[in-house]
Amino acid sequence: MILFSNPKAQYLSHKTAIDAAIANVLDSGWYILGKQMEGFEDEFASYVGTDHGVGVASGTDAITLALRGLSIGTGDDVIAPSHTAVATVAGIEQSGAKAVCADIEAGLYTIDAAHAERLITPQTKAIVAVHLYGQPVDMDAIMDVAKRHGLKVIEDCAQATGAKYKGMRVGSIGDAGCFSFFPTKNLGGFGDGGMVTTNDAGLAEQVRQLRLYGWADDRVSHQPGANSRLDELQAAVLRVKLPHLDDDNAKRRAIADRYDAAFADTGLELPVRRDDVDHVFHLYVIATDRRDEMMNFLKSNDVGAAIHYAEAVHQQPAYEDRVTNQPLIETEATVAKILTLPIYPELTEEDQGAVISAVLEFV
Ligand SMILES: Cc1ncc(COP(=O)(O)O)c(C=O)c1O
Repeated sequence: MILFSNPKAQYLSHKTAIDAAIANVLDSGWYILGKQMEGFEDEFASYVGTDHGVGVASGTDAITLALRGLSIGTGDDVIAPSHTAVATVAGIEQSGAKAVCADIEAGLYTIDAAHAERLITPQTKAIVAVHLYGQPVDMDAIMDVAKRHGLKVIEDCAQATGAKYKGMRVGSIGDAGCFSFFPTKNLGGFGDGGMVTTNDAGLAEQVRQLRLYGWADDRVSHQPGANSRLDELQAAVLRVKLPHLDDDNAKRRAIADRYDAAFADTGLELPVRRDDVDHVFHLYVIATDRRDEMMNFLKSNDVGAAIHYAEAVHQQPAYEDRVTNQPLIETEATVAKILTLPIYPELTEEDQGAVISAVLEFV
């Protein structure tokens, strides 16, 4: 089966360096909150283009702690798309805030700023802009809405590490960037991990305290905190991989180019790249009215197609009673027809060819 993502292939690409980095941490005797995490925080923030990076335990926690660090929580509303990993909304709710779901822009898969604006009430404190599949959100539109209504902007960059919007890396545009280092992500560890990036020194300090029981320098909790730390092993692995990220993202874009060209005349809806962005193709997502039939056909031909996501957040049992009180028309139409095809930097030309042949045979 050709997998739609393949973290083991990436381990094998950098095996010697990764094995050495892991052995180095094991030998050091220091496993939590040490030099590896601090070094990676600096290197990652400088890559993203922010003054600060704070390592946390996951992308979900990054969203929660960024919101809490901005004093957003119980009694506040936070707007986010419903077409996203459920983790975006889980991260908002962990802060105590109420998530309010907005629709997406047709064909682009990212939050519709105009719809988000219509959802703003006096309770609204922030918008979470999710750069889904590696496609940056229309950040000019989101920042404009946020500025006019006095809202904070959190970028959910879990699927878009390294992507650029008008020359700026995602995670450097809003008040905070939230990243996930889940193994399948464009920059992935071998376990869980996350990061909050920001130019706001006060927010960075808040997140540093919140990730560690709310402790200040005196090791006393001045506010209730969490245990949400990026461990030394993950940080050491991520430091090995970060210098390769731009090359890996270029490989993803080259595969996307090849798919785009091969499927140009098939009638399939292909991923539209927003103008003036570097899309990083965390996922290559097409759309077709024959989605289920196509997925079964591809799977029976050893092509690991998948659906991200078969149900939007507001359609899932845990959330259906509260994140929207209206239908989200574009979102609901989208989830019924999307299909993810294999894409990852190490996908061989031969396997790309096999994906293309199977898709063409189906259509
Ligand atoms: C868009 C999005 N946001 C947030 C997350 C949460 O990241 P994590 O799994 O590291 O908590 C993910 C990962 O699944 C994601 O895809």
